[in-house]
Amino acid sequence: MPSLPKTDETFTTMDQKSRKLLERKQNIAQQRKALPIASVEKRLVEEVKNNDVLIIVGETGSGKTTQLPQFLFNAGLCHDGKVIGITQPRRVAAVSVAKRVAEECGVELGQRVGYSIRFDDVTSNLTRIKYMTDGLLLREALLDPFLSKYCVIIVDEAHERTVHTDVLLGLLKTVQSARSQYVNKELDHEKRSLYKSGNSDRENRLKACQGTKLPPLKLIIMSASLDASVFSKYLGGAKAVHVQGRQYPVDVLYTYHAEPDYLDAALITIFQVHLEEGPGDILVFLTGQEEIEFVERRIKERANQLPEENRKLVIVPIYSSLPSERQMKVFKPAPLGFRKVILATNIAETSVTIPGIKFVIDPGLVKARSYNPVTGVESLIIIPTSKAQALQRSGRAGREGTGKCFRLYPESEFAKLVDSTVPEIKRCNLSNVVLQLKALGIDDILGFDFMEKPSRMAIVRSLEQLFLLGALTEDYKLSDPVGYQMSRLPLDPIYSKALILAGEYQCVEEMLIVVAMLSVESIFYIPNDKLDEARAARKCFSSPEGDHITMINVYRASKEVMEKIQVTNSQDKAAEKSINKWCRDNFINKRSLKHARDIHSQILGHIQQMGLSVTSCGDDMLQFRRCLAASFFLNVALKQPDGTYRAMASAQIVRVHPSSVLFRTKPECIIFNELVRTNQIYVRNLTRIEPLWLPELAPQGAGVLVAERWSGVEQGGDDYTDVKGPNEYGSSISGWPSRSSSP
Ligand code: CDP
Ligand code: MG
Repeated sequence: MPSLPKTDETFTTMDQKSRKLLERKQNIAQQRKALPIASVEKRLVEEVKNNDVLIIVGETGSGKTTQLPQFLFNAGLCHDGKVIGITQPRRVAAVSVAKRVAEECGVELGQRVGYSIRFDDVTSNLTRIKYMTDGLLLREALLDPFLSKYCVIIVDEAHERTVHTDVLLGLLKTVQSARSQYVNKELDHEKRSLYKSGNSDRENRLKACQGTKLPPLKLIIMSASLDASVFSKYLGGAKAVHVQGRQYPVDVLYTYHAEPDYLDAALITIFQVHLEEGPGDILVFLTGQEEIEFVERRIKERANQLPEENRKLVIVPIYSSLPSERQMKVFKPAPLGFRKVILATNIAETSVTIPGIKFVIDPGLVKARSYNPVTGVESLIIIPTSKAQALQRSGRAGREGTGKCFRLYPESEFAKLVDSTVPEIKRCNLSNVVLQLKALGIDDILGFDFMEKPSRMAIVRSLEQLFLLGALTEDYKLSDPVGYQMSRLPLDPIYSKALILAGEYQCVEEMLIVVAMLSVESIFYIPNDKLDEARAARKCFSSPEGDHITMINVYRASKEVMEKIQVTNSQDKAAEKSINKWCRDNFINKRSLKHARDIHSQILGHIQQMGLSVTSCGDDMLQFRRCLAASFFLNVALKQPDGTYRAMASAQIVRVHPSSVLFRTKPECIIFNELVRTNQIYVRNLTRIEPLWLPELAPQGAGVLVAERWSGVEQGGDDYTDVKGPNEYGSSISGWPSRSSSP
């Protein structure tokens, strides 16, 4: 009988499946028990109960992020359905840790354990342990000034000192004291001045909080850095506890000479380790998505030239904007006999702990934000790491046994590194933060209790920029409705404004595509060995008006392909295959395109909520270009007689990046979205505009600003560069030109 063997087979596979599941469960339980933090569970819970503010310092990988929230939940700290919130500076960390903790708790993600990051919310009413980005919690404070759904907030990775962490700490201090002082009593108007914004909607929400019963807010700061004193001092002498980690010796090796091409040096080292060293995975620190993808391709090319038995490499990338379904791959062990090569940004320094690493390759570089308040321009530049970062990186090789770290620079260079990284708030454009604070009702930005005060000039510049964008009134109050709407959009203010303006110009659909496409790293890729083919493919999408319309063409073409697939084929796998093939044929980066599509649908949700209708200008691209000019008037550049351009606001001489469709045509006047610095300063993402539009479209006062900046530069402005991307977390915009398309 045919049915019998079938049943038997089914039983066998079921058995195998459940055995595997059981094994994994036992494994996880064992791993958890073995974590250094497990032995101090009771003490930590006691400390949290006894202190409203607590600082926990512990070696990376000791179990802080995954275990502490579970300890607190199990100890019953979530009364009345309140939530334990844990903030992370990076999206990937929030997502991957939430997945892991859901698995550890044996619950479905989004139920008791969930995460929420910009453009992706996986939580429900049942969620009690919620991982999120620090930027997202700041946004939540806009809607819920007392963060009333939280009983505990854990600010994780505080040593990273991202601008959001710094602002969040300042805000949480006021929220904590407000919760203990006012919320359970009648809120009196004088004392609430901190939260006054002059915005009636917000006032109403605050009134709704009056008399609400709220437990005091527990605040926990977690850090991998040993120096807890800065946090303790800022938080009124808060208690700090240390969790002892475990670390095996790591052999640190340096190069004899400085390496002129660190990517090539990294490649050579990867293969040297692979061919000469014993088993163990390799972790390579690179600076961003483009670089990671470039190295990934090169490793594959080189491995293919090796004898079959030496090709056993599994390459896994990890960076902030990596689509979440690919993130977990990094934690999966390589198949037996294979070696895993993890290509990571500084995310793998402390944010995520990947098991199995024995070798670290560290070129000693990191992509960081840099801001010049004189010229008002911000850039992402590649700079040497700090000593603290170098030590964190090498430490990754010694978690499970002895390891080796290859620093791709001479030992003498190490001594020259700065001790620790300058907090981001001192080196970024503050307009986003200032807008958020204003929306939170904190009007006196200069008087705000920052952990480390940004320069007065940087604050004034951002106020000025927000005023020009129409977000602030003449007396620097949040404008209604524009400033209020801008603060609600999870975008850099200049892009929020572009979307709002697009409403007036009837081109919201087009601007939405552009903002989504600008949020990801480059859409096109041009492999060295297929230059001509790739250029020909790109021509099909190119617009003579510039890169923005070219992006719209790509997006729409991909949408057509998707729609066709959905009509003719409902199977997901086949659909994915077709779109992948389309991307390959057209030299489109499929990861970037997918990310752009996700971002598009999320922003669409926001603007629909705002009541903005999604208008389209159809074929009238003149209208759209006028809207671009009106939106990005701060980023105008004029052609010089020698074919270079002068950026109006900073007076810098810039060149058109070779990846731009306007590289050869060089129109008289352009707007740009990104400034990239290598040996030259390049502008990327350009559109041709008419200079005569500017007096009409740019707001009054923009001219004065430009004039001031010019004089500022003549007095000694330096050569910082500007990278403007819509991503408020500043992490997915590349400061690195595409290697394959360099001049
Ligand atoms: O926060 P901290 O650096 O102290 O450690 P953690 O992130 O809580 O990691 C504790 C352990 O969980 C490490 O051994 C990680 O390898 C493991 N882990 C994992 O296997 N998969 C994840 N997605 C996250 C953590
Ligand atoms: Mg952690």
